Amino acid sequence: MIIAIDGPAASGKGTLARRLAGHLGYAYLDSGALYRAVGLQVLNAGEDPGDEAAAIRAAANLQQDLLDDPAIRGETPGKAASRVAVIPGVRQHLLAFQQNFAALPPDGAPGAVIDGRDIGTIVCPDADLKIFVTASAETRAKRRTAELLARGETADLAKTLADITARDARDRSRKTAPLKRAEDAYLLDTTNLDIDGVFLEALALVESAKAGRE
Ligand code: C5P
Repeated sequence: MIIAIDGPAASGKGTLARRLAGHLGYAYLDSGALYRAVGLQVLNAGEDPGDEAAAIRAAANLQQDLLDDPAIRGETPGKAASRVAVIPGVRQHLLAFQQNFAALPPDGAPGAVIDGRDIGTIVCPDADLKIFVTASAETRAKRRTAELLARGETADLAKTLADITARDARDRSRKTAPLKRAEDAYLLDTTNLDIDGVFLEALALVESAKAGRE
């Protein structure tokens, strides 16, 4: 069972995907971490995330330990991620990793939950369930600001809103694998829902997808 969860920055898709995977005993892949790791690796090498050759080199030699490094979580690596993500050669390198994960989830898990921007459209177009998670830009900026402050980082709501809006615009307008809802994805608007409410709605979708498979 493959569950694809896509949506814009700070929509709550990561929290939902991780919780669903834990609940169902499925493997979880945060595909954004791959792009963030490539972005940070380029920055750490003193290179520009817009430099195609440097970004492709980083994607081809991805340092796996960066995937669990809290340093990839800030807004600077997030911005670098969305800049390397427009480069088709970078996406090509990361596509195989993601498709292998879906085909053969680690530790023999009976399913996988993958979140990102193009999981339902490009990475797993045949996923058993696709959910497109969204929320108003203001709500997403508030959530991201609270998350940054909780991690002890400085955060400013207006700046976070501007960063998120710019990142979404870049993700939606790029030529290769842009952020968009797959035609067969359920739209889950989390603007007026808390984490439990989002989880319960998604779980109902999982149950009906499972019933449909039987
Ligand atoms: O989801 P997260 O905010 O961690 O993703 C960081 C960036 O990585 C996104 O803004 C997007 O540009 C890129 N990304 C992508 N495709 C994915 C996941 C993330 O292009 N499947």
